[in-house]
Amino acid sequence: MHKESYIYIAGHNGLVGSAIFRELKRRGFKNIITANRCDLDLINSTKVSEFFSENKIEYVFDAAARVGGIKANDTYSGEFIFQNTMIQTNLIHNSYLYKVKKFLLLGSVCIYPKFAPIPVKEASLLCGELEPTNEAYAIAKIHGIKMLQAYKKQYGFKGLALMPCNLYGPNDNYHPDNSHVIPALIRKFHEAKNGPVICWGDGTPMREFMYVDDLADAAIFAMKRYENAELINVGSGEDVSIKNLAEMISELTGYKGNILWDKSKPNGTPKRPLDYSKLKLLGWEPKYKLRQGLEKAINYFKKEIIN
Ligand SMILES: NC(=O)c1ccc[n+]([C@@H]2O[C@H](COP(=O)([O-])OP(=O)(O)OC[C@H]3O[C@@H](n4cnc5c(N)ncnc54)[C@H](OP(=O)(O)O)[C@@H]3O)[C@@H](O)[C@H]2O)c1
Repeated sequence: MHKESYIYIAGHNGLVGSAIFRELKRRGFKNIITANRCDLDLINSTKVSEFFSENKIEYVFDAAARVGGIKANDTYSGEFIFQNTMIQTNLIHNSYLYKVKKFLLLGSVCIYPKFAPIPVKEASLLCGELEPTNEAYAIAKIHGIKMLQAYKKQYGFKGLALMPCNLYGPNDNYHPDNSHVIPALIRKFHEAKNGPVICWGDGTPMREFMYVDDLADAAIFAMKRYENAELINVGSGEDVSIKNLAEMISELTGYKGNILWDKSKPNGTPKRPLDYSKLKLLGWEPKYKLRQGLEKAINYFKKEIIN
């Protein structure tokens, strides 16, 4: 991939896609191709095929997906499995037909079995039962990984699949009801004034978070180095309890009230750090510490979301 390459980012308005877009632009890549959903619904096979025939595309970053938290995954499981399998099927198949040089698929830690040994290695794929609440989403993503592997085997199609830990940053979803933990806490602490702020569970679960600009850097790094439909974990190596996370966000937003823990609400999976030694061995490391990333995310929220 070089500065003149024709690079299509699917899902360029989302958290991940917009970070990849910013990073490619920052590095001087000149031919970045994007399309808004109103012009190109990636579920529509005919439209996707037309799009590939009309555009010269050499590399694809697939960051388009129907995503959501536990509740959305559980409630809309049919939509999740349908939309995600369709999006990646259309993109992978047309990339193969139109001779794309390399394809990068985004997945997430939820593709691994619920009780995979920790830190979770790539080899744990399909070694046990999935977490039932996001099974439909996980199966769709596993389908994408297996499709890349089958296309590599039969056609020699070059691809890779990146599995990041939890991400946060600009263009995250800050919706009060269906956002992930970091944007949800940023909003809660910002809006609470004197509080109290009530958080779900008892605060003990440990989580691994990555500022999305680090993921964009990892995606470009991996795109240049892998091509055999490998599965590659991307972690931050920094584990934090939800309690410490909430305290950090409360301090950084300037919140002065109490934090209460509603223990009647579920904690979720206890601990799931990713083993990202595969990427580390090639020399890739994240740059942002959690505190630094949170400061940036909070500044973004104040400037872009509530203004
Ligand atoms: N967020 C995380 O913590 C996290 C962690 C690990 C992995 N990932 C992975 O990263 C990928 C992207 O996630 P994200 O957090 O960036 O999600 P996101 O912010 O919701 O972005 C998804 C993008 O996909 C687009 N899209 C969805 N359905 C589409 C369709 N039918 N046609 C065209 N565009 C469509 C959306 O378009 P609109 O803007 O029009 O809605 C949006 O731009 C997913 O595969 C996810 O599993 C995310």
